[in-house]
Amino acid sequence: KYSPLTDTFGRHHTYLRISLTERCNLRCDYCMPAEGVPLQPKQNLLTTEEILRLARIFVEQGVRKIRLTGGEPTVRRDIVEIVAQMKALPQLEQVGITTNGLVLTRLLPSLQRAGLDSLNISLDTLKRDRFEKITRRKGWERVIAGIDLAVQLGYTPKVNCVLMRDFNEDEICDFVEFTKDRPVDVRFIEYMPFSGNKWHTERLISYKDTLQAIRERWPDFQALPNGPNDTSKAYAVPGFKGQVGFITSMTEHFCGTCNRLRLTADGNIKVCLFGNKEFSLRDAMRREDITEEQLVDFIGAAVQRKKRQHAGMLNLSQMENRPMILIGG
Ligand code: GTP
Ligand code: 5AD
Ligand code: SF4
Repeated sequence: KYSPLTDTFGRHHTYLRISLTERCNLRCDYCMPAEGVPLQPKQNLLTTEEILRLARIFVEQGVRKIRLTGGEPTVRRDIVEIVAQMKALPQLEQVGITTNGLVLTRLLPSLQRAGLDSLNISLDTLKRDRFEKITRRKGWERVIAGIDLAVQLGYTPKVNCVLMRDFNEDEICDFVEFTKDRPVDVRFIEYMPFSGNKWHTERLISYKDTLQAIRERWPDFQALPNGPNDTSKAYAVPGFKGQVGFITSMTEHFCGTCNRLRLTADGNIKVCLFGNKEFSLRDAMRREDITEEQLVDFIGAAVQRKKRQHAGMLNLSQMENRPMILIGG
């Protein structure tokens, strides 16, 4: 049966990542260019109403999971309201956020009351001085407190750690240790190139190298089963409360099982993390004569243009794309 969210390779898209803002309260140097990104005028960004309308349309077409990203999604004032409204969509099974964790101690209780199902927290180092170096801001303790609170409130947060040569490669085993007494899922992410992020092959630490470093210390480090659309390969040290995962976008991509679509904060549908062909649902939606059916047709047409996979590693490093802060991962 034809669905606008099924692409020409038969991939059915049930997962939508919505960027709520282009702003962030950190300045991570692998995510945004040193000079920052020019802020768009407010009228270019989707309003809360527009976000909720598009979310409803996508859910009607088959989306079952929505992840809120940014920039930093908690910077948006009405995030709790957005989560609550999305949770009111009966067919939507899961609402998650990906956050830098900076304000979770203040915000997480209300997010949980609004129905937030899961959260992924970015943390690239277990050392305070390094945190300040890479994020160009203070706040390491607050992120750790945010992770602890998430655990206390019953979540099993995913902790996203982007590995970079000469930055945190010496912390791989510390991060594995971090899962010993905490029910968290630490995921090592291969460093990916985006506009303005100074990516270099030499700074990429591959999944294989990381795995080897861990096996030297824990020879019984064990692979676990994965879900059909997971970005990460799951592992654990037997006896540890948490898990470890690997997101191998560069050395072993997972485009074949991709079920993701993206909506940028300025209202473009982006059918691949690395794809440039975007279409402005915002502009379409702001036309007075547009019907809901036409909007669905525009979404379907964008999905039909999705490529089988992003180009190989070398091409990627030379490709034009938005900086990560304007995509949301
Ligand atoms: P779950 O929804 O919990 O499965 O999380 P996730 O891994 O999809 O998302 P998260 O926001 O935690 O991102 C973790 C890392 O995975 C980031 O580096 C993302 O850029 C990367 N990532 C997320 N989705 C995709 C994708 O579709 N393709 C690729 N190549 N990488 C992705
Ligand atoms: N390569 C890999 N992952 C990245 N992230 C941000 N920039 C990059 C990059 N260049 C991660 C963040 C966050 C997630 C959404 O994407 O750390 O956890
Ligand atoms: Fe999907 Fe594109 Fe990511 Fe591949 S790179 S998994 S096609 S979003």
